[in-house]
Amino acid sequence: MIAISGSKSLHRLVYASRQRIAPCDLDDEIGAIVRASIRNNREVSVTGLLLAHFGHFVQALEGPTEAVLSTYGRISQDPRHEDSKILAAGPAASRLFADWNMCARRMTPADDAILNTLSQRDSFDPYALSAQSALKLLTAVRGIQRNTQLRAMG
Ligand SMILES: Cc1cc2nc3c(=O)[nH]c(=O)nc-3n(C[C@H](O)[C@H](O)[C@H](O)COP(=O)(O)O)c2cc1C
Repeated sequence: MIAISGSKSLHRLVYASRQRIAPCDLDDEIGAIVRASIRNNREVSVTGLLLAHFGHFVQALEGPTEAVLSTYGRISQDPRHEDSKILAAGPAASRLFADWNMCARRMTPADDAILNTLSQRDSFDPYALSAQSALKLLTAVRGIQRNTQLRAMG
């Protein structure tokens, strides 16, 4: 169940960072991150999406301003990544990732082609994304994730 508060103003923050996790541990660590995230984010009405791709993370956090900022403050101290850079932050009219208190997606090689088209580059450099492209990227990932979930249910 996703807890969503209606009255407080909505804030969205998107950042990129570099993973500091051994490749063989990535699945386990992402699993642990998502479990902790769901538990904590549900308590404070934060929703979002975490993309893990080519040694980087790109994550969107949305919810009440204080909750988003304090969650990001905690995340940015986490030794499992470094060089966190905020790509977009500010008021949001509505939630883009209301489906999940947190959900992580690791890109497959096929997804990769979509991402490269979106960012119009030969390789993935999340630090170079504008606020608009970062959101476009994560909403594309949201579409892929929803389709995967629908296929799994069907
Ligand atoms: C890339 C990344 C994304 C994370 N996202 C979240 C998040 O959305 N919410 C959250 O509570 N913790 C998140 N974490 C984990 C936090 O850094 C921290 O370990 C966790 O909040 C501690 O929770 P606990 O005290 O309940 O164990 C993330 C960590 C990483 C490395």
